[in-house]
Amino acid sequence: MKGVVLAGGTGSRLFPLTKITNKHLLPIYDKPMIYYPIQTLVDAGIRDILIVTGGRNAGDFLRLLANGKEFGLTHLDFTYQEGEGGIAEALSLAEHFADGERICVILGDNIIEGSIREAVQEFMTQPGGAKILLKEVDDAERFGVAEIVDDKIVGIEEKPKAPKSNLAVTGFYLYDEHVFEKVKGLERSARGELEITDVNNSYIADGAMTFSYLDGWWTDAGTFESLLRANNLVAETIAKRGEL
Ligand code: DAU
Repeated sequence: MKGVVLAGGTGSRLFPLTKITNKHLLPIYDKPMIYYPIQTLVDAGIRDILIVTGGRNAGDFLRLLANGKEFGLTHLDFTYQEGEGGIAEALSLAEHFADGERICVILGDNIIEGSIREAVQEFMTQPGGAKILLKEVDDAERFGVAEIVDDKIVGIEEKPKAPKSNLAVTGFYLYDEHVFEKVKGLERSARGELEITDVNNSYIADGAMTFSYLDGWWTDAGTFESLLRANNLVAETIAKRGEL
């Protein structure tokens, strides 16, 4: 399976930290943020990786990551998102790279303690469709929130004021080759973006979405609070493992 890291957008919620650099180049403890989603893909056995970036610092990604040698890769692909049209718009730029194969998509600011390897393997045995990973959280209104009835996912609401569950949709998405048709059929949301939640709801409507639960801690790093949380969680985990 191929992997896609979405690292576009302007990171406006982290301004002025993102005034002169891209959010995904900011430090998370001892590494730039973008290292974590790439490592998550590599740990899941994925070697063919596309980075979608944007903004004024796109060239810095190439200088930082080169051909992915630090991750044991011999090649990395890059592409560029103009503007900030949403996660699904950034994903649409991966169509050529995917070339009809299944893809594992990771948001560039999502950091985890554990691995998504099992979910990737499960998805490979699925006839088609999509799979997402859910995580129980205390602040569900910040995320896409899944509604589960009789162990089936029946819908996702993006940042609901009154969440129907405490299950956040994490930024790890597994899609079959039909994902790009679905993105092409989307309309812009009230915030002017092509929403990944609309893509996922379309798979749910087709009865083609499965889910599993993410083990270990999970955080995004797109706000000051979550950026600090991500730094602390990584530092604690490294200390626990005795790596430093
Ligand atoms: O972190 C998980 C959440 O991520 C999900 O629960 C939500 O359903 C999903 O919409 C998303 O919510 P956010 O509002 O936190 O997404 P954000 O705008 O912060 O974008 C997350 C990443 O997606 C960002 O680090 C880079 C990528 N992105 C985002 C936009 C808007 C792009 O590559 N291009 C874009 O235009």
